[in-house]
Amino acid sequence: MNLMVFGAPGAGKGTQAKFLIEKYDIPQISTGDILRAAIADKTDMGMEAKNFMDAGKLVPDSTIIGIIKDRLAEDDCKKGFILDGFPRTLPQAEALKDLMANMNISLDKVISLNVPDELIVERITGRRTSKVTGKIYHMKFNPPTDEKEEDLIQRADDTEETVKQRLSAYHEQTAPLIDFYTNMGVIVELDGTKEVSEVTADMFASLAK
Ligand code: AP5
Ligand code: ZN
Repeated sequence: MNLMVFGAPGAGKGTQAKFLIEKYDIPQISTGDILRAAIADKTDMGMEAKNFMDAGKLVPDSTIIGIIKDRLAEDDCKKGFILDGFPRTLPQAEALKDLMANMNISLDKVISLNVPDELIVERITGRRTSKVTGKIYHMKFNPPTDEKEEDLIQRADDTEETVKQRLSAYHEQTAPLIDFYTNMGVIVELDGTKEVSEVTADMFASLAK
C-alpha cells in the first residue's frame, strides 16, 4: 500500500500516520521528521533547512526531492510507505509522480485531513512530542496517559507567530495539490476536526473501499 497523509500544519498527519504504520506495517516518511533529525545531527543540509523551518517557510524543492529520492530507494519502502508532509508544492508532486513511475508503483490513496485555520493554532501550540517514543500528544486534546512519558518536548517551529507563516505557506503553495490529486482520482477528503479515534475510523473505512 502506497499512501499519503495530506493537510495543513496541525491537521493530524503525524497522528494518523502512526495508526497506518501499525495496521499496514509500512514505514512513515515524514520530510519534517527527516529534516528535524538532520538539524539534531547538525548536518549541512539540516543547518540550511533550519533557517527556513524556523521562519515557517518551505525548504527548497531541490533539497526535499533529493531526500525523498534517497528514502524511497531504501529496502523497507518496497512493501509500501506512508508519505507525511510531502509533497508540498507542484514541482514536488511532479517529481514524486516521475519517481514512482520509474519504480513502477502508484499511489493508492491520498488521505486529506480538513481542519480550518482557526483550530490550528491551539493544536500546534499545545502539541508535545515524546523524546523517547516519538509519540505525538496534545496537552488538552490528547494528553499522555503513561506516567513514564515525562520527556516531552515542544518543536522549535510551534510558536503562534511561526504557525501563521506555516499556514500561509500551506494555502499558497500546498493546498493547490488537492486539485492535482483529485484529478488523479486518488484523494479522500476527511473531516479532521473530529476526535482522533473518529478520524482514524473514517480513514480505515475509506481505505477498505
Ligand atoms: P512538518 O513536520 O511536516 O510540519 P507540518 O506540515 O507543519 O505539520 P505538523 O507536523 O505541524 O502537523 P501534523 O499534521 O503532523 O499534526 P499532528 O498529528 O502532529 O514540517 C515542518 C517544516 O519542515 C515545514 O514548515 C517546512 O519548513 C519543512 N518541510 C517539511 N516537509 C517539507 C516539504 N515537503 N517541502 C518543503 N518544506 C518542508 O497533530 C498536531 C497536534 O494536534 C498534536 O498535538 C495532536 O495531538 C493534535 N491532534 C491531532 N489530531 C487531532 C484531533 N483529531 N483532534 C484534536 N487534536 C488533534
Ligand atoms: Zn507532522
